[in-house]
Amino acid sequence: MSRVLSGLQPSGDLHLGNYLGAIRNWVADQGAHDAFYCIVDLHALTLDIDPAELRTRTHETALDLLAAGLDPARCTLFVQSHVPEHAQMTWLLECIATMGELRRMTQFKEKSAGNDSVRVGLFTYPVLMSADILLYDAERVPVGDDQRQHLELARELAIRFNHRFGPTLVVPEASIPSVGARVMDLQHPERKMSKSVNSPLGTILILDDPADIIRKVKKAVTDTDGEVRYDREAKPGLSNLVELLAVSTGRTPADVAGAYERYGDLKNDVGEALVELLRPLRERRAELAADPGEVADLLAVGADKARSTASATYQRAARAIGLLSPA
Ligand code: TYM
Repeated sequence: MSRVLSGLQPSGDLHLGNYLGAIRNWVADQGAHDAFYCIVDLHALTLDIDPAELRTRTHETALDLLAAGLDPARCTLFVQSHVPEHAQMTWLLECIATMGELRRMTQFKEKSAGNDSVRVGLFTYPVLMSADILLYDAERVPVGDDQRQHLELARELAIRFNHRFGPTLVVPEASIPSVGARVMDLQHPERKMSKSVNSPLGTILILDDPADIIRKVKKAVTDTDGEVRYDREAKPGLSNLVELLAVSTGRTPADVAGAYERYGDLKNDVGEALVELLRPLRERRAELAADPGEVADLLAVGADKARSTASATYQRAARAIGLLSPA
């Protein structure tokens, strides 16, 4: 079975972009692959986040992922900080990554723009992400389109490490869905749906109730030419809705666009399809919240499994790079 790994920040309510770009594919991959999924709380420290809130969000993110269909019997679900090798491996990789390549990361450029006291952790964030991936010998990394450049860095660091110190690390491949990899904000369709931007009407949360989902879709910004056509450049708002319906119903965007003449009809069907898509998740989430102890136990089992894989890779890398093994 091939090894798959992916991660997600516990930075608040998960939204439709997280679900369609990543989580849905994580669920599909478990069972058929040896899958590791990580709640990346160390990455969340690059944001200003209250300690108590970080703990709560980490726990709630685990509930959300279980509600979305992750099954701890068929995948390894764990919290990043429970496996100390992530921080250790990051240091090894920081010693082969360059300032120039980190400065080129577009997410770093966006998040640091206009801020004159940028944290070092925000700068080295992609190296921690590379460590997450390389520690598990992951061959495939299912992510949304916004992580493409970070994945390139992980590949590049693995190749460089192997070239310099001999074959040690598996070179991973990004796995980005053809539809749903870039869900756009419903109010600002030129930018991606994101938890770090405050756009309540433009963001559908996976736990939104049906009336809110329908209201947000009805109010989604489109255009005035009145023609239903899939064209992400010329018609970003409408094309986003077409993609949402395509991905929720397993059709192609072209098929969906061909089936409608009026924006209103398309919006009605998008709203209903999203309500149905998210319904099981919302129902299961309510059941899971009733037993918080169970989730803590599941995460402890996940951390044990993750740690045994991560520590073997870390030791291999530490030996290759020349660190003396403890007696
Ligand atoms: P994060 O937490 O921002 O997002 C989690 C996943 O959701 C995807 N995503 C989207 N997909 C489609 N449309 C959108 N609007 C959208 N917004 C988010 C992301 O692409 C991602 O797959 N750095 C990562 C977390 C990470 C990671 C890793 C991922 C840390 N270590 C190792 C893979 C492997 C991040 O901040 O994702």
